[in-house]
Amino acid sequence: MSDTLTIKDNRTGKEYDVDIVDGNISAMQLRQIKVQDDDFGMMSYDPGYLNTASCTSRITDLHGSKGILRYRGYPIEQLAAKSNFLDVVYLLFNGELPNKTESQAWAERITHHTMLHEKTKKLMSGFNYDAHPMGVFISTVAALSTFYPESKDVDDAEVRMLQACRLIGKTPTIASYAYRNSRGLPYIYPDNELSYTGNFLNMMYRMVEPRYQAHPALERALDVLFILHADHEQNCSTSAMRNIASSKADPYVSVAGAAAALYGPSHGGANEAVLNMLREIGDIKNVPAYVDKCKDGELRLMGFGHRVYKNYDPRARIVKDVADEVFEVTGKNPLIDVAMELERIALEDEYFVKRNLYPNVDFYSGLIYEAMGFPMEAFTVLFAIPRTAGWLSQWMELMDDPEFRITRPRQNYQGQGARDVPDGYAS
Ligand code: CMC
Repeated sequence: MSDTLTIKDNRTGKEYDVDIVDGNISAMQLRQIKVQDDDFGMMSYDPGYLNTASCTSRITDLHGSKGILRYRGYPIEQLAAKSNFLDVVYLLFNGELPNKTESQAWAERITHHTMLHEKTKKLMSGFNYDAHPMGVFISTVAALSTFYPESKDVDDAEVRMLQACRLIGKTPTIASYAYRNSRGLPYIYPDNELSYTGNFLNMMYRMVEPRYQAHPALERALDVLFILHADHEQNCSTSAMRNIASSKADPYVSVAGAAAALYGPSHGGANEAVLNMLREIGDIKNVPAYVDKCKDGELRLMGFGHRVYKNYDPRARIVKDVADEVFEVTGKNPLIDVAMELERIALEDEYFVKRNLYPNVDFYSGLIYEAMGFPMEAFTVLFAIPRTAGWLSQWMELMDDPEFRITRPRQNYQGQGARDVPDGYAS
């Protein structure tokens, strides 16, 4: 039995057999469907890409209805429990987890790239003290393109890997410099003896002590959060990365563009929006009235709902456990009670049940970040640092894809037909 789909065009009575490959049909096969020979041919129409596979990928496997997320086949729960962020980056980039020797060499390789060019500091100090950290992050990552002109050789796999390692090494440094700048604090250089997240916390928080040692539980909690945020297949920012990189733009400007897509409150900006929402609610007693406003369509319950998950986001479950571990060290974030009440009421409410709206990864992460001392505006940067690994692995996969093409969607034009510019229309 051949895997084909027969389409009958009731306008003409003609039938077409189109191939089914991996459960999909290629939209290009629809082009043969025409009424007149000189027609353009049929296209598929899918605003928001609700049902369009934009690429073939072997990186992240996501089953939204079952709440399953796997990187290169490994369940997210196991990676969070047994691995560390840099090993997960290795896995995303190379397809396999590193052995002990590879893991050490990899950590050293990334660590080698944690420093920023001194001129980057000058650039960053030009921002106002109240500049949003995501604006600073996006601009600085884009500016790295000017320091590494060889990065334009995107067809060379070695050049690509070098830029990818640079970006993984440098994003925490950029994020911490942005924070220090906003507080008028001196920049702290990386300490390469520390772990990836240990060094990040050092660059964020070190004051006059000769050496900063983060609490091991917080260092590990941040590492787990980074693992959870590392990749999430073809989401808005990753699609932006692939779109930009498909024109063969260099990875710095491409990552900056992806980070810009992440910034929006419907995507990575949701963690900041959740905290704003919890503060606005303020007290458990105000939760029912707030939920009613969401049901009336007046507001959205931030940190709830997902385009792909129609079940509990598996990352949110892990984040909830991490929150307990962090609060044991930092003390409980008082807003956690509001969040838990919000979750309890929403999960029992018909509106949310009917629409399969569950907490997503952003629902609890902001509470953890706040307890760890991160300012609210920096939360999306804490998403962007680990997601850089996902963007880069998807970029490297794209550049080696035999089906590589520049992204160029079609449109359904319904505007004016041809008409003449009136004589003397302008004053
Ligand atoms: N609160 C209240 N109602 C909602 C929510 C929400 N958070 N999310 C969706 N709905 C309703 C929506 O009003 C619609 O109802 P109806 O069918 O009556 O019109 C229905 O559910 C479907 O919504 P949609 O907008 O068609 O769903 P979508 O897949 O286009 O949007 C989403 C997904 C994540 C943008 C949306 O759920 C949302 O805005 N959530 C809040 C923002 C958020 O937490 N974003 C973080 C996503 S996870 C992290 C990441 O990957 O970036």
